[in-house]
Amino acid sequence: MSHAIQAVRGMNDLLPDTVPVWQRFERAARDVLHAYGYTEIRLPLLEKTELFARSIGDVTDIVEKEMYTFEDRNGDSLTLRPEGTAGCVRAGIENGLLHNQVQRFWYQGPMFRHERPQKGRYRQFHQLGVETFGMAGPDIDVELILLCARLWRALGVDGLELQLNSLGTLAARHLYRQQLVAYLEAHRAELDEDSLRRLDKNPMRVLDSKNPALQTIIAGAPNLQDALDAESREHFDWLCESLRAQGVVFRINPRLVRGLDYYSRTVFEWTTDRLGAQSAICAGGRFDSLVEHLGGRPMPAAGFAIGLERLIELLTREGVNAAAQAPHLYLAVLDDAAGRGALGLAERLRDAGLRVQLNCGGGALKSQLKRADRSGAPYCLLYGGETEHQGVALKDLRSGEQQELPVERAIEFLKGRTATAVTTFD
Ligand code: HAM
Repeated sequence: MSHAIQAVRGMNDLLPDTVPVWQRFERAARDVLHAYGYTEIRLPLLEKTELFARSIGDVTDIVEKEMYTFEDRNGDSLTLRPEGTAGCVRAGIENGLLHNQVQRFWYQGPMFRHERPQKGRYRQFHQLGVETFGMAGPDIDVELILLCARLWRALGVDGLELQLNSLGTLAARHLYRQQLVAYLEAHRAELDEDSLRRLDKNPMRVLDSKNPALQTIIAGAPNLQDALDAESREHFDWLCESLRAQGVVFRINPRLVRGLDYYSRTVFEWTTDRLGAQSAICAGGRFDSLVEHLGGRPMPAAGFAIGLERLIELLTREGVNAAAQAPHLYLAVLDDAAGRGALGLAERLRDAGLRVQLNCGGGALKSQLKRADRSGAPYCLLYGGETEHQGVALKDLRSGEQQELPVERAIEFLKGRTATAVTTFD
């Protein structure tokens, strides 16, 4: 026997026993997104490397060390998308969807980052992302947050903390940056290697450092909130007031700077204390300069992305265990001669709207009934043998009762039962 090949580290199979929970999430998310008028956009997994370097930022963990980048056969540098915002902006510009228009897009799919795998952190993971364009005011920021809150309610997730911050305009950030550099320079001797590198290239990222030894220095750093320009302050105040008016609880976290460079003004994260170190379930904010930065006409924008593995883990822990779409009926075939007829009968039953799992590959009645039980179907139809010409035998797999009846009557009976039966999660 040759050796079995294993999956790439950090890239997980989503097995049939967890997929129903994902599907439950997807149904709830689609309903909520439609309720707010968002439309789906589907984007490529591969983009030119330059797109990510230019949008996420050269001095970010993602671009510096986490991207899956390779040269294709033409010698072009391509990257497996580490996130969805850059591709969505690229697609919007390229397809003329942004200019003079208001857009609300959503997307879902795998993202790729070469991080150190651990619980809640993978190399292939999934996001549901939302990006809006053309709305400069804080009302859309509020809408995005309300949309998240509604989704958490629809899923029965509670206990998430909403953290908010404003990064101000680029000009205000520039001023703040000077203050921060002066402060950090005064503490240069105490900084670690990573922070020294960030200090030179992207000093705000020093505030993002997780090194425990630096937390006192970080706590004493000048406060970004104090450096906000008047317009950003007004924007942020309006946002906070509106959230309060809608009963949304939040905490202002002046240290929330996010790991991607394209943000300005509002940034936010929904976090949980139930998943250990990987606490961010959903994160986003405004990226008002990104469209122009990527070659489009200036266009305000805001969005967020939910980390689905983390959300699904939370749902599973909270006892959401969605049943698979079990068949209504298992069709057992009593003798080989009935096999072809059984295929036709299964089609007729499906035409009548029933979910049917057909016994393929033969087997003794006993083992077919075992498979029927395992399928989760509440009924088994026994076809062939004695009953082939007169009708079928219908076995209730819960009570064990069995009756013989004509096929048409069996179909009517099953349709009546399954119309009310709760065999699915929805
Ligand atoms: P992000 O904070 O890099 O933002 O990722 C968003 C979410 O994806 C995180 O909060 C986390 O739940 C999940 N996530 C990130 N990395 C991993 C990983 N290695 N394994 C598992 N889950 C992960 C963005 O990606 C932005 N594009 C969000 C955005 C959209 N901002 C504006 N629009």
